[in-house]
Amino acid sequence: MEISTSLLSVKKEDIIQTIYNLEVAHTDYFHIDVMDGRFVENDTSETMRIFCEYLNQITNVPIDIHLMVTNIKEYVDSYTIFNPNIITFHYEACKNKEEVDNYIKYVKDRETKVGLAIKPETKIDDIIEFLPKINLLLIMSVEPGKGGQKFIESTLEKIKYAKTKIDEMGLETEIEVDGGINLENSKNIKENGATIAVCGTALIKSKDYEYTIRKLKE
Ligand code: DX5
Ligand code: ZN
Repeated sequence: MEISTSLLSVKKEDIIQTIYNLEVAHTDYFHIDVMDGRFVENDTSETMRIFCEYLNQITNVPIDIHLMVTNIKEYVDSYTIFNPNIITFHYEACKNKEEVDNYIKYVKDRETKVGLAIKPETKIDDIIEFLPKINLLLIMSVEPGKGGQKFIESTLEKIKYAKTKIDEMGLETEIEVDGGINLENSKNIKENGATIAVCGTALIKSKDYEYTIRKLKE
């Protein structure tokens, strides 16, 4: 299982050193949580833009953008300039299924991998039809909007069911799980089929990034 470290909880004054430390500790991705203050209450867009500028300047570790925004096109345009590896938007931010298809195409047309994110209350069955069109399904294990929340246990069943469907359909679609992940629950998440785990607070506050990332991957 790969690790995508969320920088949401990193203070601006610590970001450069933290990026270096996480690169040395072998994080597989940097997870950028873009919030617009509309889809979710917080607005992190300015800070995340600055963080992406630093990432572009100092590391080649791939950037994993998680858009928690209403105006998806506007934010795809403003974040593709950072050449992210993948841009993920929320199913619940789309008015209908046609719009989901349009945004999937819009991201792909920018030579960027595309992910679809679902909130805890959204069912896997609601998005089955998009699985063949996306590179990654992001299953939220907390309510989107802030870091440091508790992992929602029922997510494990969702991961397992999504994995079953992806295997049945013979797809390579990645399953990323995001929110409240730590050394206590990462093994279960992996065993149920997650291929990428997002970790924020539990990793950023740990004193040895290399050790924590290694244990999260085990
Ligand atoms: C929440 C974000 C998550 C969060 C993860 O809306 O999408 O990526 O920052 O942080 P932790 O690991 O602290 O839950
Ligand atoms: Zn996220």
